Amino acid sequence: MCGIVGYWGPEKPKKVILDGLRSLEYRGYDSAGVAIFDSSKLKVVRSPGKLSQLEEKIKSSEFTGPSGIGHTRWATHGAPNEKNAHPHKVGSIAVVHNGIIENYIEIKEKLAKKKIMPSSDTDSELIAHLLSLECKKGKNLLEATLNVIPQLRGAYSILVVNEDEPDTLLAFKNATPMLVGIGEKEIIIASDVQAFISRTNRVAYLEDGEIVLSKKGQVKFFNVRGQEITNKKIHEVKWNSVMAEKAGFDHFMQKEIFEQPQALRQTMESHVDHDSMTVKLKPTGLTDAQFKKFSRIQLIACGTAWHAALVAKYFFERVTKISTQVDIASEFRYGHSILEKDTLVIVVTQSGETADTLACLRLCKKEGHKTLAVVNVPHSSIDRESHGRLYTNAGPEIGVCSTKAFTSQIVALQLLALHMARLRKSCKVTEIQEHVRALLELPSQVEVCLNHDKWFKEAALSLTAYRGFLYIGRGVNYPVALEGALKLKEITYLHAEGYPSGELKHGPIALVDSSMAVVAMASKDELYEKNVSNIEEVRARGAQIIAIGTEDDAHLRRLSRHYLSIPKATWATNSILMAIPVQLLSYHVAVALKRDVDQPRNLAKSVTVE
Ligand code: AGP
Repeated sequence: MCGIVGYWGPEKPKKVILDGLRSLEYRGYDSAGVAIFDSSKLKVVRSPGKLSQLEEKIKSSEFTGPSGIGHTRWATHGAPNEKNAHPHKVGSIAVVHNGIIENYIEIKEKLAKKKIMPSSDTDSELIAHLLSLECKKGKNLLEATLNVIPQLRGAYSILVVNEDEPDTLLAFKNATPMLVGIGEKEIIIASDVQAFISRTNRVAYLEDGEIVLSKKGQVKFFNVRGQEITNKKIHEVKWNSVMAEKAGFDHFMQKEIFEQPQALRQTMESHVDHDSMTVKLKPTGLTDAQFKKFSRIQLIACGTAWHAALVAKYFFERVTKISTQVDIASEFRYGHSILEKDTLVIVVTQSGETADTLACLRLCKKEGHKTLAVVNVPHSSIDRESHGRLYTNAGPEIGVCSTKAFTSQIVALQLLALHMARLRKSCKVTEIQEHVRALLELPSQVEVCLNHDKWFKEAALSLTAYRGFLYIGRGVNYPVALEGALKLKEITYLHAEGYPSGELKHGPIALVDSSMAVVAMASKDELYEKNVSNIEEVRARGAQIIAIGTEDDAHLRRLSRHYLSIPKATWATNSILMAIPVQLLSYHVAVALKRDVDQPRNLAKSVTVE
């Protein structure tokens, strides 16, 4: 989960590389560094902490170029300090790396036999040593790389420069993302399109096992056997840099919370048939015949995406009548799960690069199952490797804390379920039309929910006084309770747990006293009365109730210390409306606690290591 940028071109590399790293800081931000040519010398400068500390260190440094590489780190091996920061330079070679070298101990022992003792605690430095050994035998960068790759095991991508070849950049991709931006007179190699989208939208996506070699701006692609790949596709990406900027908000997370009405419109547009008021998905890569044939659904995801998948289970089973299983990717991949033959495997992911989710996709494909990705980032690894895809089209989500991705994933999954229900005639057309109307109302209903922003901003500081938070809900609101707790944990660092309301009396209620806040999601649905009973139970034990209910629910208001309303919606779309207040709660409490909202400690936006 690191940010990598490399540049070759007529401009001074420092600015291009730092701009690129800044746009990738959400991928990791505990240390940073650059290796940039200054005349014929390859100068390396590294710094612990945020990118701003590196910028301060090199603000007066002039690097003539023509090329250089940079890195912003999320530490895996070795503490986040200057010694372990990338790039790692050994001899004429400088390397930046994203991922994990699983056989690094074996390599370290092999180097020790040659009396080579690394100066850092990282697995990345070992790659520089191996490449340097090859170059000392007279190999050029491509030859050296082809000899070193077979010695490495793990999920990793590398970007390399050689002091003896100033006009050359080389990158190798295996599991973690690496893209090539092809400008008019410049080449930018990076972990994500954000790093260069303001300079070029012409992009080549490296596949696993591919090498890109850029020499004086001439780009060639090779496989690990050194054979040139002559038909590499160059994409024209539709995103622009403005979409990825803050647009006047204080944080990306805040912007993305407020982008949700538009994001949901983008998720739905072109899939809803307004004449029939049903769903006719744009081509996904799977056929209608296949959608009719599936007898099981297996949803797989991590974190917030897993919560969205949990919401979807209720919906799929209600409208498609297909048994639906949901698993966390890191459990599924080692769980020896038995999937029925005609299972549709749906992987849900914002980034399309989550290592565990990608591994599950590959496992299920290998076992012959049809796969479909519900994904936000076009051309990401999971997008490219799935049989079918349904884009959430939410636009770039930069804040580590996922918000618009969550709600757009739920909508996308409901669109998919309604498309399948229409084909399979598994529920009445009138029921499908009711769900479609409810979805089409969502963007304006979300706008209404966003009006709670002011209340949360004013109440935030008082909310920090609680010892802990329990989030409770039933049915589709249970996964939203999990999501609300995750939001709070990951950006305020306060402790929170999400539970099915009915589960409290099986243990968690022992936590409840007057120092505990209970965020209770009790929309007016078929489970309302049950939920209210559970709220009474915790209230009787002193819990401070923050209730979220449908419109003006006087009874719920009376039970609550704080009551927030959401518009009247259906049992299915309540889950999306409930998400807005819990997102706002977490955001404003984090701001009140002066947390680093967009780059919370210990986290990264895309978990590309397992
Ligand atoms: C959510 O706020 C977190 N950032 C995290 O749980 C995230 O949802 C998870 O890592 C999955 O990421 P993905 O959707 O990109 O696969």
